[in-house]
Amino acid sequence: MSDPDALLHDFQSVTEPLHLEDLFADDKPTELEIGCGDGGFLLEWALRHLDRNYLGVERLLGRIRKLSKRGQRAGLTNLRLLRIEARYVLQYLLPERSFEVVHIYFPDPWPKGKHARHRLINADFLPLARRILAPGGIIYLRTDDLDYFVQMEKTFCSSEDFVSEETPVELLSLTTEFERQWMEAGKQIHRVAYRLH
Ligand SMILES: C[S@@+](CC[C@H](N)C(=O)[O-])C[C@H]1O[C@@H](n2cnc3c(N)ncnc32)[C@H](O)[C@@H]1O
Repeated sequence: MSDPDALLHDFQSVTEPLHLEDLFADDKPTELEIGCGDGGFLLEWALRHLDRNYLGVERLLGRIRKLSKRGQRAGLTNLRLLRIEARYVLQYLLPERSFEVVHIYFPDPWPKGKHARHRLINADFLPLARRILAPGGIIYLRTDDLDYFVQMEKTFCSSEDFVSEETPVELLSLTTEFERQWMEAGKQIHRVAYRLH
């Protein structure tokens, strides 16, 4: 029987930096999704773009295991998964200047006022994004939470290192699991992108 965790990286150490050449068989442009959940988006995007590598980060084992099984069933060799906390892996483990694209879709909104400090996208996130993005790399963001969307815009607009960028139509048309739920519930979806320069 095949290994359901085959696409999950087997961390021998959570302090040793990761190297993309140890994760992927081929040296290709690499994209990262942070908080990929059970990965409907990442699976489909990786299937469509076999000429690129995809790395998913998710802290919940059940979700990322489901994605691993689906990816393995689909025969994907350009998809690898990390079960780990996002800020930690961005700050300490992922290689610098390595990702052409970073996707962050529907990060936990922490809607109650005093909890908003737990949000991933804030001023502390900027140096983490700068660290891992390749020169000219793009970060794509989506949320259904208007307050968080405004915070995302303020965060990136406060930095001279990022400029606003269009999201390609093909990417816009591919929805995530949470996005489909929020759209069915009649919520407005906010999408924005920034390029590192
Ligand atoms: C609202 S869900 C969105 C999932 C997926 N992006 C989508 O749009 O369908 C947010 C996901 O981010 C993960 N997550 C939240 N905070 C995280 C963190 N600090 N590190 C890693 N994953 C995180 C959650 O476990 C969850 O699966």
